[in-house]
Amino acid sequence: MADELDPRWTRVDDYGARLLLKPDRSLDLALADSEAAQLPAIAVTPLQGAFLHLLARTTRPRAILEIGTLGGYSTIWLARALEPGGRLITLEYERKHADVARKNIDRAGIGDRVEIKVGRAIDSLPSLTGPFDFVFIDADKATTTEYFQWAVTLGRSGTLVVVDNVVREGAIADEKTTEEGALGMRRFLEAAGRDPRVTVSLLQTVGGKGYDGFAIAVVR
Ligand code: SAH
Ligand code: DHB
Ligand code: MG
Repeated sequence: MADELDPRWTRVDDYGARLLLKPDRSLDLALADSEAAQLPAIAVTPLQGAFLHLLARTTRPRAILEIGTLGGYSTIWLARALEPGGRLITLEYERKHADVARKNIDRAGIGDRVEIKVGRAIDSLPSLTGPFDFVFIDADKATTTEYFQWAVTLGRSGTLVVVDNVVREGAIADEKTTEEGALGMRRFLEAAGRDPRVTVSLLQTVGGKGYDGFAIAVVR
């Protein structure tokens, strides 16, 4: 994905993180242990984690749903946005990823608030009980359309839904693209744009992970 990293993007990411984010051992160790376990280095960036955290906070969340756990990096950022007594459920297909995430989440001191459900997200979703106040969709990109349908179904008026990796270095708007993720995201955006239950926008991003973007939706 990140084939054209403009050095300014990483420089500004590092600059912003240094000025705005507090040093955080739990988050640093979550990334270090994910790397040591050879998980792919595809977690959200630190500033994106903070962005997700503050967006989640605006919903005063008692329940957060995440689809795609990896090593639990984004999970920790999101779980810290929960109101007292709140819960986060995160869905992960790979047992190994879930095991690494469990340790990272427990070490961050939020293990009691977080449940990891291992299996295909599409199989776990029907067993969940809403309403969720915030949903972060960040798993297999081809199934995003279905995950978004579930997010709205399990939401309430005012639920925020954020979808990662929507722009894909611009492939989303390239009609000749054959990239599976881009085709999946295009199918999702076409459906979301026609869906009367939601208001949706698309936010392009650059940074340490290259050129990509989030879709952000609010349930009406
Ligand atoms: N949200 C994480 C990154 C997630 S990477 C972070 O920012 O820190 C995407 C994750 O989705 C991977 O761990 C992958 O194993 C998982 N995944 C892929 N297909 C899945 C599926 N069908 N159901 C659930 N999880 C899936
Ligand atoms: C990939 C997945 C992600 O969720 C991401 O943020 C970046 C890359 C990937 O599968 O390559
Ligand atoms: Mg992602």
